[in-house]
Amino acid sequence: MTTFHWDCKMGAVFCLIFVNIWQVVTGQIHYSMPEETEKGYLVGNIAKDLKLEIKELSHRGVHIFSSGRTQHFALNYKSGHMYSTERIDREEICGRVEKCLLDFEIIVGDSMKVYGVRVEITDINDNAPRFHSEKMKLKISESTPTGSLFPLYEAQDPDLGNNSLQGYKLSSNTHFSLNMETTVDGRQYAELLLEKPLDREKETDHNLVLTAYDGGIPLRTGTLQVHVIVLDANDNPPVFNQRIYEVCVEEDISIGSTVVTLKATDLDEGINKELKYSLMKITAKASQIFHLDSNTGEIILAGNLDYEDSTQYEMEAQVHDGGELFDKSKVVIFVTDVNDNAPEVIITSVINSVPENSPPGTAIALLNVRDQDSSNNAEVVCSVPNNLPFQLTTSYGSYYSLVTNRALDREQVTTYNITITATDHGTPSLSTSIIIPLLILDINDNPPLFPQSSYISYLIENNQRGASVFSLKANDPDWEENARIMYSIIKSQMADFPLSSLLSINSETGIIYALTAFDYEQFREINFLVKAQDGGSPSLSSNVSVTLFILDQNDNTPEILYPSVPTDGSTGVELAPHSSEPGYLVTKVVAVDADSGQNAWLSYQLLKATEPGLFSIGLHTGEIRTTRFFLDKDALRQSLVVLVKDNGQPPLSASVTVTVVLADSIPESLSDISSISAPADPQSDLPFYLVVAVAFVSCLFFIFLLVLLALRLRRWRNSQLYDSGSGNFSGVPVSQFVGISGVQAFLHSYCHDFSLTTDSQKSNFAFPKGTSSDILPSQQPCEIRDPFLSAEDTKRFNGDSDNIQVSCLCLWCKIEIML
Ligand SMILES: *[C@@H]1O[C@H](CO)[C@@H](O)[C@H](O)[C@H]1NC(C)=O
Ligand SMILES: *[C@@H]1O[C@H](CO)[C@@H](O)[C@H](O)[C@H]1NC(C)=O
Ligand SMILES: *[C@@H]1O[C@H](CO)[C@@H](O)[C@H](O)[C@H]1NC(C)=O
Repeated sequence: MTTFHWDCKMGAVFCLIFVNIWQVVTGQIHYSMPEETEKGYLVGNIAKDLKLEIKELSHRGVHIFSSGRTQHFALNYKSGHMYSTERIDREEICGRVEKCLLDFEIIVGDSMKVYGVRVEITDINDNAPRFHSEKMKLKISESTPTGSLFPLYEAQDPDLGNNSLQGYKLSSNTHFSLNMETTVDGRQYAELLLEKPLDREKETDHNLVLTAYDGGIPLRTGTLQVHVIVLDANDNPPVFNQRIYEVCVEEDISIGSTVVTLKATDLDEGINKELKYSLMKITAKASQIFHLDSNTGEIILAGNLDYEDSTQYEMEAQVHDGGELFDKSKVVIFVTDVNDNAPEVIITSVINSVPENSPPGTAIALLNVRDQDSSNNAEVVCSVPNNLPFQLTTSYGSYYSLVTNRALDREQVTTYNITITATDHGTPSLSTSIIIPLLILDINDNPPLFPQSSYISYLIENNQRGASVFSLKANDPDWEENARIMYSIIKSQMADFPLSSLLSINSETGIIYALTAFDYEQFREINFLVKAQDGGSPSLSSNVSVTLFILDQNDNTPEILYPSVPTDGSTGVELAPHSSEPGYLVTKVVAVDADSGQNAWLSYQLLKATEPGLFSIGLHTGEIRTTRFFLDKDALRQSLVVLVKDNGQPPLSASVTVTVVLADSIPESLSDISSISAPADPQSDLPFYLVVAVAFVSCLFFIFLLVLLALRLRRWRNSQLYDSGSGNFSGVPVSQFVGISGVQAFLHSYCHDFSLTTDSQKSNFAFPKGTSSDILPSQQPCEIRDPFLSAEDTKRFNGDSDNIQVSCLCLWCKIEIML
């Protein structure tokens, strides 16, 4: 801050004044004083220097004259000293003028004398160098080459010479130094020199201090804060944080998921670190599946991944910054398998039906099993339910054969739905099931079977012809033709009757019809076999035995065996002695009924008697006994009508007339008879016929006696060989025999009674022991089997020749009586 301008003007004024004063004064006084001294600084002794008396000073009107300017000095009139009236700043008064001279005059008024006074103000270092701003900002790009110069602010120091600015210093640093230059007018100025390249990425700014100093004593300095800001240059390429990105993704991740995030860094800043990602060397397919967000570097799934389609994708990733710099990286995406495919079961061949007799191991189907997954996920196990008679066998590779493993039976299961399940080993595992329907074809493996092993049926005799007798039903679990049953009667156990004339069977329905009206008295039971045969090929059959019992109906009237109905006109005569006691057994009516049971249960009753009350008849025995002693008035010949009735519904009956003659002996009886016969036979020529008859009968008797004797002897010998038994009845059903044996029993007991009564009357009547035979009971000899007989007696009767005599006598006697 100088006052050049002012100095020039003042100089011109001074010149004018000086010219005037020069004309007046002779000399000039010189003083010197430093600037910035305190007020009252003693500049010089004016009185002494002007050779003036101290006391004269005030009287002579001495004063300082300064042409229009500030009066810096004043006079002390008492001492004659001149002193400064104020602090004087040289820089203020003189600026950069080298010699700062203050000229003024001292005028002595009374003597009209002017004295020139020159005071030189000397410089002191009272000003420090100063920058016009304390801070300075410098922006330098990091790419600026070394040696570049950057101007700095200049410092100013108003002092002079050594007190003025001498130079600059820069604070210590690594990159910069000062370059000093001098202007044409000799001023020094400093420039900042870049000695070492800048790197924003290391240091973004540098703080320097520029110090300006002068040469005064003491040294004064001024400082400038230089803030160097390093500007970014795109000197760093972006760098991926991985040279290769390898990721594994499951094939089933959802669309929109982030597969991998690329990350690159760029040390630069601003636009230089604005990164853009891109994918290169990518297949068209992959570019549809993967989408790269160019700003974030995220690779996002945009399509469906399928391990089965492609297991890995490889591409190149690039990143570019705002400039031309870029980096490359490799991205490899491995697709891992997920069990997303269920196994497939493909039936390559199959049959729909198998016969039930197929042996185990018969192939039903050939299957191929596939799974599009890999490793464990593609390991497939096939199975069929254990409860089915099938199994899977591996044949070749992933081919399975479905075969039977047991015997099949259509009668148990006719169709199978074979479920084949294929399961893979993934987690979780997937499975597929298919159903193979299989029809089991029938084989005629079951014969028709009757529910019972034998059947019994009953049919009342005298049935209608064509009546259905019985129904049979056999079951055949086979199917259709194999279950169509034909019935037939195959065998009769009655060899002599052709069964086909008796019974027929409806071959379809199994109903048995009677072809004839059966007669219980002819057939009591019929045994036959019924065969059921199915329609299979070969056909199977079974048979069952059927017994048809004919039930009795009361269709037979009782038949009276004894006394026999006379065929030759004569009637049987029973003998009863006069002396008979009450209860004497006169005779026994013997009747049989061909029916059986109740229908053959006979009862006897007296219908009519000559002398009612004289005889009684046992209700069931048929024995006719006397009820009282005979009286003389009783007729010698008693006639009894006996009714024999069975117990059937309705009952059937027969009657017989029994003639009882009251006589003690045969001759008597004969005379009695003749006497009795007379009225009975009113014919006049009866005696003649009688004589002829007696003679004829006698002759006949003798012949008969001889024949009988011979017969008896033969039979007796035979009976010795094989004792009498049921053997002779072997051909006849026992039940048929019951009636006859019953009659025999009656006859035996009758004969026994008869012989006893004859014995008791000392009669020689006795029946020899005879064998049973098919001769009529009335003609049978009586068997004597009496507990009351002694062994001796029995012996006598058995095989004794006397016995035969007795027997003959008996017969003779009987004949006699009959006559
Ligand atoms: C200024 O300083 C220089 C060196 O410091 C010295 O040689 C010179 O004499 C000095 N000048 C004055 C006028 O003091
Ligand atoms: C087999 O499957 C068919 C069709 O689903 C069905 O009609 C039939 O009843 C099934 N048979 C068996 C034995 O389960
Ligand atoms: C009847 O069946 C049995 C076994 O069931 C058999 O032994 C017999 O031969 C068959 N009879 C006829 C006549 O077929």
